Amino acid sequence: MSDSKTKPVIEIEDVCKTYYMAGGMSQSVLKHVSFSVNPGEFVAIMGHSGSGKSTLMNILGCLDRPTSGVYKLDGTAVSEKNDAELAHIRGREIGFVFQNFNLLMKRTIADNVSLPLIYQGVNEKDRYERAIQMLHKVQLDGYQDRLPTQISGGMQQRVAIARALINNPKIIFADEPTGNLDSITSDEIMNLFTDLNKQGITIVLVTHEDDVADYAKRMIKIGDGKKVYDGLRSAYTGEDKEC
Ligand SMILES: Nc1ncnc2c1ncn2[C@@H]1O[C@H](COP(=O)(O)OP(=O)(O)OP(=O)(O)O)[C@@H](O)[C@H]1O
Ligand SMILES: [Mg+2]
Repeated sequence: MSDSKTKPVIEIEDVCKTYYMAGGMSQSVLKHVSFSVNPGEFVAIMGHSGSGKSTLMNILGCLDRPTSGVYKLDGTAVSEKNDAELAHIRGREIGFVFQNFNLLMKRTIADNVSLPLIYQGVNEKDRYERAIQMLHKVQLDGYQDRLPTQISGGMQQRVAIARALINNPKIIFADEPTGNLDSITSDEIMNLFTDLNKQGITIVLVTHEDDVADYAKRMIKIGDGKKVYDGLRSAYTGEDKEC
């Protein structure tokens, strides 16, 4: 779906991932997957449980490396970077949102949101102010001093999104971000992702829910580790074939 004028923000080419386990066992999970994503796209990655979606997301989010193939993030081949360089790219370019929110339950909401800034040496007062700005973006004004246990699940996911936004990422990767939420709260979270996408942030999210995927313009479907659909979400007929 890339055109010649726009430089993709994500390019994966012939990516394979094999997990090697104790006793010489191995499992080939991603098989020669290639695609690119342009800046500003909103992509839903779908597929059955165990098809390799999270494995793919972890590679895209620089949490893991492909066994073979090339992954370029914003033109840089991340597959050749070392752990420290990957951590740097992850901190500066990418926001990650998980199904289970991944908040520190004993720390305040402001602390949770501003956590990524600690590693950049930002002082406490500035961190607190940045947290308040981010909480405003996710409509959680005034909640900065509470604990995650004192707010709802949907609000906790908003906090996680605020944390993902703190470094002004170009891309947000979200793995089943609505998986633990009821349908009304899911819609609120998806509307928030839609707003962020309208502001220019590229969104790539994994979901197995059709209603959630409908918010995305483009859908990539993974079946048994291969790409079996890549196109407009609205044009998907249910027919899958390796592509
Ligand atoms: N760290 C690992 N070591 C070994 N095998 C793994 C590892 N992570 C995932 N797998 C295997 O890889 C396959 C794909 O897993 P993955 O988590 O990517 O699937 P998924 O599409 O995200 O599934 P779900 O919809 O259930 O979240 C599964 O068979 C899984 O058991
Ligand atoms: Mg998964």
